[in-house]
Amino acid sequence: MGRKIGGIGIGCDVGDAASAEAAFATARAAHGGARVLVNCAGIGVAGRIVGRDGPMKLDAYERVIRVNLIGTFNMLRLAAAEMGALEPFEDGERGVIINTASVAGYEGQVGQAAYASSKAGVIGLTIQAARELARSGVRVMTIAPGLIQTPMFNGLPDDVRDSLAASVPFPARLGRPDEYAALALHIMGNRFLNGETIRLDGALRMAPR
Ligand SMILES: NC(=O)c1ccc[n+]([C@@H]2O[C@H](COP(=O)([O-])OP(=O)(O)OC[C@H]3O[C@@H](n4cnc5c(N)ncnc54)[C@H](O)[C@@H]3O)[C@@H](O)[C@H]2O)c1
Repeated sequence: MGRKIGGIGIGCDVGDAASAEAAFATARAAHGGARVLVNCAGIGVAGRIVGRDGPMKLDAYERVIRVNLIGTFNMLRLAAAEMGALEPFEDGERGVIINTASVAGYEGQVGQAAYASSKAGVIGLTIQAARELARSGVRVMTIAPGLIQTPMFNGLPDDVRDSLAASVPFPARLGRPDEYAALALHIMGNRFLNGETIRLDGALRMAPR
């Protein structure tokens, strides 16, 4: 698919300013300024606030915030600056930014302190950034997925995966990456969507544990 649309893959650390700036520069040289950013990079490290070995290591918490929240903001700030300098389309629109939160940003489970707070930060950033970037014609939306069948689930035993799937009210299965992609495409095309987080979860509400 990447080859079909002339896409290129560029590695970067989203949580690192210089690395992300270099990636944007390479992409700009190949394709011109960015019109769309889909912020998808994320990590989930489990650990209790106070576990068997005492309080959670602060650097473990920091690592998740660095990738999920600071990484999202880092890419958003660079994309917004680039989009703001482009020619506007209809309605003055210059670009669209789509972030990825999680239902854990609303209902973090036991052991998800770092992940839940990083994703809640992304949800909070959404309306703020949409307001601030409105004058540049840049929209900001966030998708909050429930349980989506990605490589994140590959390591799980079948029975655990089945019981997770059965916990989804309807349809009682894991979500598919193409369902995320379909929503992202809709957001890109629907100019009146702005400043909101959309759950993509089959009505799932996470239990405490
Ligand atoms: N799969 C789910 O059920 C689910 C549910 C809710 C939210 N999410 C979110 O969706 C997003 C995608 O997750 P996924 O399920 O595809 O997981 P994944 O582990 O398959 O993909 C995450 C990707 O992020 C990349 N990444 C990690 N740290 C990075 C960094 N510092 N810089 C650049 N890239 C980095 C990884 O290399 C990997 O390709 C994540 O933000 C995740 O939190 C996933």
